Amino acid sequence: MKLRFLDLRKQNLNIENKIINSIKKNISSSSFIGGSDLINFEKEFKNYLNIKYCLGLANGTDALEIAIKTLNLKKNSEVLVPANTWISTAEAVLNNNFKLKFVDVDETHNICIKDLKNKISKNTRAVIVVHLYGNPANLKKILALKRKHKFKIIEDCAQSHGAEYNGKKISTFGDIGTFSFFPSKNLGCYGDGGCVVTKNKKLYVNMKKIANHGGLKKNSHQILGRNSRLDNIQAGILRIKLKELDKWINYRNRQAKVYYENLSKIKSIKFVKRIKNSKSSFHLMVIKTKYRNELKKYLHKKNIETAIHYPKSLPETDLFKKNHLNYCKKMFSLKYSKEIISLPIGEHLTLRQIKYICKIIIKFFDV
Ligand SMILES: Cc1ncc(COP(=O)(O)O)c(C=O)c1O
Repeated sequence: MKLRFLDLRKQNLNIENKIINSIKKNISSSSFIGGSDLINFEKEFKNYLNIKYCLGLANGTDALEIAIKTLNLKKNSEVLVPANTWISTAEAVLNNNFKLKFVDVDETHNICIKDLKNKISKNTRAVIVVHLYGNPANLKKILALKRKHKFKIIEDCAQSHGAEYNGKKISTFGDIGTFSFFPSKNLGCYGDGGCVVTKNKKLYVNMKKIANHGGLKKNSHQILGRNSRLDNIQAGILRIKLKELDKWINYRNRQAKVYYENLSKIKSIKFVKRIKNSKSSFHLMVIKTKYRNELKKYLHKKNIETAIHYPKSLPETDLFKKNHLNYCKKMFSLKYSKEIISLPIGEHLTLRQIKYICKIIIKFFDV
């Protein structure tokens, strides 16, 4: 039997009837754009995170772009982004016509504090903190730098719904938190979706305008905006899934524990470091090994699917290498991209299956 990297069918099975009923309800009431599910989801998600404002959007990339836009940064501002993240984080900076600078990652696979200190300049106006793989970044140190240098913080939480730092949900520490509800995320809808959250009313109202053609009411266009909406059917699906989210995250943590307990004896394997007082949502279970390619092939032969997040760190990609590779050449993030492998994790796998995967990995390393 194939052990798949991702299989949403098991997750869907338990909630399918509720979801079908929710979709039917919205079809029969013709509530497609706007509507009670959207209003209620925004309310329920902000309550879940314990933050004041939530605005549903079309996807997580829009969420980042709109978050940057609303900060109203000066021309020629510099926005710092970790070198290992999904491309949206960096795209959003360039699509807003600001200067992008990459910062290395450390053993947490999140933004490296030492390199962040080096990269901050007098033009640095914002830092996008990505909580990659569901693993919270070192918010305490980043917030101390924010106080000193007065830059804005956007938390990219596309992979970290429900993750915590010091008992508080991530997304509530910076100026704006952004989320993706892409289907494979821990909280995913049945298509594209995203949102921004903030404690700042002014930022919230402005983002709402940007996402609605520049106004809060139909035919009111006060500023240059666009169309970015989370639709009512997706919001209805997310309301049902949000009720399950903590259970799913806890289960992922139990699976991760099995990986840690079984694989920590293997010297050639390194885990992603977690900072004190944080709870990962384990969107991804990433390990590092010099024998990554061989291990990946071996697991594939044994019918175990794996993935790589990401095969190239952003400064190495065609889009960025011309302007960025030079100053990024010695970054750990480039080295890590050759060593990381994402192991299967999620509701579709039993703890016994995770133990089995560990057994196969142990066999590969012959320990
Ligand atoms: C870290 C990160 N940021 C942003 C995004 C963009 O989200 P979306 O695909 O909903 O646009 C993703 C999606 O994979 C992501 O992983």
